Amino acid sequence: MIITERLGTDASSLQRAAELLRAGQLVAFPTETVYGLGANALDPGAVQAIFSAKGRPLDNPLIVHIAGADQLEQVVADFPAVARQLAQRFWPGPLTLVLPRHPRLPPGVSAGLDTVALRMPDHPVASAIIKLAGVPVAAPSANLAGRPSPTTAAHVLADLEGRIAAVVDGGSSDIGVESTVLDVTVTPPLILRPGGVTVEQLREAVGTVHACRGHIERPRSPGQKYRHYAPRARVVLVEGSTGKEISQQLANLVRECASRGETVGVLASEETAAGFGHDPMVAVGSRHAPGQAAARLYAALRELDALDVDVILCERWPRVGLGDAVMDRLERAAGGWPDAGGPWRVLLVCTGNTCRSPVAEVLLRAAAVEAGLCVEVTSAGTSAVPGAPMTAYARALLERDYGLKVRHSARRLDAELVSKAQVILTMTADHRRAVLALDPSAAGRVFLLQEYLGAAGDIPDPYGGDQDEYRSMVQGLDRAATGLVERWKREWGSGAGCRPGGQAR
Ligand code: TXA
Ligand code: MG
Repeated sequence: MIITERLGTDASSLQRAAELLRAGQLVAFPTETVYGLGANALDPGAVQAIFSAKGRPLDNPLIVHIAGADQLEQVVADFPAVARQLAQRFWPGPLTLVLPRHPRLPPGVSAGLDTVALRMPDHPVASAIIKLAGVPVAAPSANLAGRPSPTTAAHVLADLEGRIAAVVDGGSSDIGVESTVLDVTVTPPLILRPGGVTVEQLREAVGTVHACRGHIERPRSPGQKYRHYAPRARVVLVEGSTGKEISQQLANLVRECASRGETVGVLASEETAAGFGHDPMVAVGSRHAPGQAAARLYAALRELDALDVDVILCERWPRVGLGDAVMDRLERAAGGWPDAGGPWRVLLVCTGNTCRSPVAEVLLRAAAVEAGLCVEVTSAGTSAVPGAPMTAYARALLERDYGLKVRHSARRLDAELVSKAQVILTMTADHRRAVLALDPSAAGRVFLLQEYLGAAGDIPDPYGGDQDEYRSMVQGLDRAATGLVERWKREWGSGAGCRPGGQAR
């Protein structure tokens, strides 16, 4: 245990912070996004100390912070045209670029990858400290691994007091969610983590930019596979597109939790809070200004956590502008990410588990094997008769037209199957509701199959139809299986042997 120095932002405090960094010590400091836990990026021992202080898994690389273009050559091996263009537009600011790393950078900074994440923060205190230290500064968010990121010095101390040399108190971070992590070693650039610079802004600046959806584990950005941004309480996301629907859902969930003897805190928009009474409830700004929610999100999660509630019910924000980053963090806080090191577990849901979902299961498994993706697929029915076989028509089609062996006996959907799956795909909206009724906390993980693939509508039940209807169902599900595999390959950073949920390659 060391004594953590509290530093201000006067000249001698900043000098002291820089001196500690140069001496290989850890110093937390404010940035415009969240507080960072800094160490000299060129000092392997100091970099190592960051991982110990945070309890951070060693395979999760750090972001290197610089204060000027003159420091680039110490950190990266190449700074391609697209990076130059983006830096010109967004630096200093909340954009992190993944670039080829400089061979002399300690490998621990980028957890053994051949790339390095780099950003130039837009905060006078951060820039001053980096300049005074005279070295690039590796800095993850200054929280214990898995906890919400800190937006004040008090949050930093709550997690890291006694574990770090100093914290510089520069007030609250303005943006409140972390920087956007953009991989520019691929074309088009790929967003690995949504953040302070929005996808809309990036596209306006450089045209096509691909975006990964947040609930996918991506070996390309190892940090994304861990449970993140999570308070101690269980976070449950609340569905609803109108204020009335949201309030109704909140009321139902509050009642449900209370009946189990659980205490509940609510995190909501100002609009919802105005029409819904609950204590404790924290309002974090308008639904129409997601920047307000971003700025207050982590503080609100910490505040509710400090009250020791069992459950935090949390309104969803529209995924527009900073709403994308807000929803990414909330889904991670709610998701739980069971057993992140194992295979990617997919659950397909229909009614009887004799036709649509088992057909999708067989086709998806075959497509995944062919693509070299490590995916574990199961299916279940909302009102299945356990043990029932696959419908004869569907089975005959799979065996004859696709050469697939079918061995299936129906399974009934239950809470355990839901809790084990990392993504749950349903044939219809009713099935999705049935999953949520079993486990409301699955909200961030359950999707209508068609919507997950960017289309709309239900997959209709062919029951009672002729052979043509069965054939078109099987063909539709085969296209869906291909679409799923393509999507995951893209998001996980394509290539043979890519192992979702596994180690970074
Ligand atoms: O706003 C921010 O970015 C804050 C402030 C302090 O700058 N920092 C921050 O760092 O959020 P951290 O360590 O909490 O998150 C870094 C993220 C992780 O998801 C990590 O996996 C990813 O960036 N990352 C780092 N290096 C990478 C690399 N070479 N390739 C892919 N992803 C990388
Ligand atoms: Mg972090």
